[in-house]
Amino acid sequence: MAASRTTLASLLFLLLAVVSLISPSQSATCTSQTFTTTTNKLYSFCNDLPSLNSYLHWSYDPTRSELSVAFIAAPARPDGWISWAINPTSTGMVGSQALIAFKDSDGGMAVKTYNVTSYGPLTESKVWYEVRNSSAESSGGVMRLFATVVLPEMGKTTLNQVWQVGPSVTGGVPDKHEFQPANLNSKGSLDLLRGQSTVAPAGGGNSRANKRNIHGILNVVSWGIMFPIGIIIARYVRVFPSADPSWFYLHIFCQVSAYAIGVAGWGTGLKLGSESKGITYSTHRSIGIALFTLATVQIFALLLRPKKDHKYRFYWNIYHHGFGYGILILGIINVFKGFEILQPQNKWKNAYIVLISVLGGIALLLEAITWIIVLRRKKKSGNSTKPYEGFNNGHSRQEPLAP
Ligand SMILES: *[C@@H]1O[C@H](CO)[C@@H](O)[C@H](O)[C@H]1NC(C)=O
Ligand SMILES: *[C@@H]1O[C@H](CO)[C@@H](O)[C@H](O)[C@H]1NC(C)=O
Repeated sequence: MAASRTTLASLLFLLLAVVSLISPSQSATCTSQTFTTTTNKLYSFCNDLPSLNSYLHWSYDPTRSELSVAFIAAPARPDGWISWAINPTSTGMVGSQALIAFKDSDGGMAVKTYNVTSYGPLTESKVWYEVRNSSAESSGGVMRLFATVVLPEMGKTTLNQVWQVGPSVTGGVPDKHEFQPANLNSKGSLDLLRGQSTVAPAGGGNSRANKRNIHGILNVVSWGIMFPIGIIIARYVRVFPSADPSWFYLHIFCQVSAYAIGVAGWGTGLKLGSESKGITYSTHRSIGIALFTLATVQIFALLLRPKKDHKYRFYWNIYHHGFGYGILILGIINVFKGFEILQPQNKWKNAYIVLISVLGGIALLLEAITWIIVLRRKKKSGNSTKPYEGFNNGHSRQEPLAP
């Protein structure tokens, strides 16, 4: 017990260290951009796009499905073009519905729409969304594209976006862009109802995408991987007499570290929730709160655990296992809810599915082995010993299973 208390204390310390690490002061540049030249526009959100030094500012009115954007980027050369597009069917350039701004033959700035069906030359065309109005301006080597569009799919608030810059325009047709990594990575998803706050908080805003990734990683590692492993240890490793009592400390170590990481992840979730105006992911949030509550009770119950031959130990076991399995199931459900919200690349979700299936497979195998061992022992000794009554768990006065 003393050892586990020390572990608990050092892990709580670790938790505080982790929490203090995840409030970086990386400053976001789009939050300091203002629009003064055409109209004094105000957008609800902005993002520093991750490649090509580009920025997107936007406002979205879900009731009318109306999206206003300002896309800011430097064309590859002064007489080049900049483009921002939505891809309603896929994630890359092909299929994207593009707005492209460039200098027209009369010297003014034009914005045209293109249904990009291949890597071939572009032809102006109608696009998936309706363009209410659009305009563009160019100054200091930077172009700004403004547009208000109406999305045909009401209620869909996460889009695939693609952006690009090109070097030149020939005869009113934008020429092809370069194929450098930055040109090929200029795509991602856009959550219309979430972005960096346009009002930079004092001391500089944090990069929101970073925070969401940290939130995702911490919670997948904690609730999605470590808690299940800790449960597997408690349920299956203890049948081996030689693993007694080390399985117990391993279990505690696993769950207390999972809790520490989980609380850090939970904290980042609360922060993200408080910063997201206009939308709450209520199921994800409620499950998150339930998880935190269950896990906190579990951790403190560790300290109140009755001795194994105490008459209340039986009830303590029921509660401890019930809460444990509750955390297991809710944790995995919430990881998948989180994937739906964050929409990371498919490989992450697939990797998690593979991992959790492997853990599930291991658990099934161990379940079978456990029953075989226990039944064999029972036959030998003629005892009415049930499985899982090893160290710290038996509510009867029986000794741990004899080899
Ligand atoms: C874009 O082009 C593709 C292929 O020609 C066509 O199937 C699609 O309907 C077009 N989209 C729009 C919005 O016109
Ligand atoms: C879009 O049109 C509205 C009126 O229909 C006008 O007030 C607004 O300034 C226009 N915005 C741009 C970017 O041209």
